[in-house]
Amino acid sequence: AGVKGTETERTFIAVKPDGVHRGLVHKVIERFENRGYKLVGLKAVVPSRQLTEEHYADLKSKPFFKGLVDYMSNGEAPVIAMVWEGPDVIKQGRAMIGATNPLQSAPGTIRGEYCVSVGRNAIHGSDSFESAEKEISLWFGKAGELIDWKRSGSEWVI
Ligand code: PPS
Repeated sequence: AGVKGTETERTFIAVKPDGVHRGLVHKVIERFENRGYKLVGLKAVVPSRQLTEEHYADLKSKPFFKGLVDYMSNGEAPVIAMVWEGPDVIKQGRAMIGATNPLQSAPGTIRGEYCVSVGRNAIHGSDSFESAEKEISLWFGKAGELIDWKRSGSEWVI
């Protein structure tokens, strides 16, 4: 996940199938780009059940686990998987997304603007450096899928 605490810190952000269905992908990209973060990986994926189960491994015992895995991996819409880079992007990304339960997400956050249900909360973001490392390597494991590039004008942002 890049180098923690530096401008190369990275986080995994995914627009979930409900967010894709609702045409929210551009809203998510727009907010991260506007903030000054840099997109270093992007793809549409229908994740296998195995990938989804690994991604949500901590939730195995939850009653909603099977439903969550079904909905992520059934292919009704893809997941748009992204890696974003920049200062404090893991924590700031979570703040931009808003609380897990959209009814507790502050207005102005992505969920606070677009969602009302926890099972349809549109977007996922890594909750710690360790999760970011795990999730980035799970979703973007292949060589060459993440691009190191320098944004012209970035000295005006960072
Ligand atoms: S928990 O219960 O505190 O461990 O879980 P929480 O951190 O609140 O949420 C972890 C992820 O599970 C998703 N979630 C749900 N999905 C579907 N249905 C229900 N009822 C549900 N409850 C929680 C929640 O959105 C989190 O997923 P991500 O993708 O990380 O946001």
